[in-house]
Amino acid sequence: MAPRTVVRHQFDAVIVGAGGAGLMAALEASKRCRVAVVSKLYPTRSHTGTAQGGIGAALANVEPDSWEWHMFDTVKGSDYLADQDAVEAMCREAVEVVYDLEHMGLPFNRTPEGKIDQRRFGGHTKEFGKAPVRRSCYAADRTGHMILQTLYQQCIKQQVTFFDEYHLLDLLIEHGRCAGLVALCLATGELHVFHAKSVLLATGGFGRMFKVTSNAYTLTGDGCAVAFRRGVPLQDMEFFQFHPTGIYGLGILVTEGARGEGGVLRNGRGERFMERYAPTLLDLAPRDMISRAIYLEIRDGRGVDGKDYVHLDLRHLGRDVIEGKLPDIADFVRTYLGVDPVKELVPVQPTAHYAMGGLPTTLEAQVLADGVSRPLIGLYAAGECACVSVHGANRLGTNSLVDIVVFGRRGGRHMANALASMDWPTMPAAPEARAQDLIGRLTSPASGESAAQIRAELQQIMMDHVSVFRVGDGLKEALGGLSSLRSRYQHVAVRDRALQFNVELEEALELGYLLDLAWATAVAALARTESRGAHSREDFPKRDDANWLKHSLASLHDDTVALAYKPVRITKFPPKERTY
Ligand code: FUM
Repeated sequence: MAPRTVVRHQFDAVIVGAGGAGLMAALEASKRCRVAVVSKLYPTRSHTGTAQGGIGAALANVEPDSWEWHMFDTVKGSDYLADQDAVEAMCREAVEVVYDLEHMGLPFNRTPEGKIDQRRFGGHTKEFGKAPVRRSCYAADRTGHMILQTLYQQCIKQQVTFFDEYHLLDLLIEHGRCAGLVALCLATGELHVFHAKSVLLATGGFGRMFKVTSNAYTLTGDGCAVAFRRGVPLQDMEFFQFHPTGIYGLGILVTEGARGEGGVLRNGRGERFMERYAPTLLDLAPRDMISRAIYLEIRDGRGVDGKDYVHLDLRHLGRDVIEGKLPDIADFVRTYLGVDPVKELVPVQPTAHYAMGGLPTTLEAQVLADGVSRPLIGLYAAGECACVSVHGANRLGTNSLVDIVVFGRRGGRHMANALASMDWPTMPAAPEARAQDLIGRLTSPASGESAAQIRAELQQIMMDHVSVFRVGDGLKEALGGLSSLRSRYQHVAVRDRALQFNVELEEALELGYLLDLAWATAVAALARTESRGAHSREDFPKRDDANWLKHSLASLHDDTVALAYKPVRITKFPPKERTY
């Protein structure tokens, strides 16, 4: 194939991804420098827009609360794997950042006296675990959508330059420093080379490696995979969260806010089974526990009609609460299941939702080249693609929105401050060469494998062996399967030769990213011979702090994934047994 047209740009800072983390970083950085945002999607279609139930912050608007309680809940929810200095920064700053969003115009639900209203969410408690607390600030069940709209408008006002529908292909790393990136313009097929003093990755998660997921089709881990291929380690990849309530058969999210408003889970016998698993918090226990409980009920024959789902019961909430506070999920279940939640039970099953792992960063969102202490100059990451680590082995609901705005802002600020004393990094001789090769390899063969077939097999393998419950033999089987899929990927052929909106090429590129990340996930999961948070090994059912109170770091070396470990930072809350 003839080489593609190459277009060149220069910006002080380039942000990749236009979800909440990317937009927050862009907004901050643009106060002091020239910023571009490169996004695979039109910004307001980013996956932050699907976050429903709220953003956690100890505002204490409706009952007493404190950032220390929020911190305690987050650390305990993480099964003590989160780094506590990072959690402290997040929970303290959550309050200020929520008020900032309010002042930017975010239309939160209000209390009768006009304050931001707050509702309950899983694992969020008062007085260090005594009872659920109302901490989630929400805009009906469209909180993420409202955050996106608000931040996008602010970025436009701030004259941030947007490159919409550009797909990340490569990061330019020269002499241990990030010099920019290469992206594919979907509308034209051109390659765009961005020369930048610093780059912030905010490309979100990679739930599309699983068959049943709440993640949009675009959640293919692009930033993580590209950096991984460039030698950056990935931290804590074995921890992938399944949200307990996905719409049965589809995985689309039914917000935990539904249980925060009083909804309950029932098995096939109509029993409120969480009474047996989490007697204090019940249906508001953390997600890892509830997802396991649902699977155990199903396994013991207490699914609904012998099938692999349970029910979410919202009927007692009444029409006003459902239509007023949960309008989107009411629409979803009516549209996709033909079920009216006001009168009927909603079939739900756990759905792959959130990657706790990702690119290791400092508290200022600087990516750590060695995973431990050495920042890779000019490279930042924030949001789900990063691992700072505030979620440890299991994230609490509402904390992803806190994470994106707190660490997006910190990253944007740090970038802008650092830029003043930075010279322009040297560009590699042919910066687009690797990206040209990558595309050439997929589009040159006259015939070969279909990416869609390999992706379907990948998603099945991950679902069967690397989901809520795991065992060593299953993980080994998964690794065998992934190895064969990776070999077959070398023979993928993209038949469509169009330059404009070549969706087949797009899917093939994304599949390559997913295969690399699934591989790192399975390798790290097989190695961790304990159960902690979302990583539940049936052959090693106990948490093992003596040997495994540590973060994993997976690196790519000569086509193998090598593992290393680093300690967890514990400041205030030493590990304890985790009961709810
Ligand atoms: O259930 C939800 O609304 C999801 C929130 C989250 O993942 O934080």
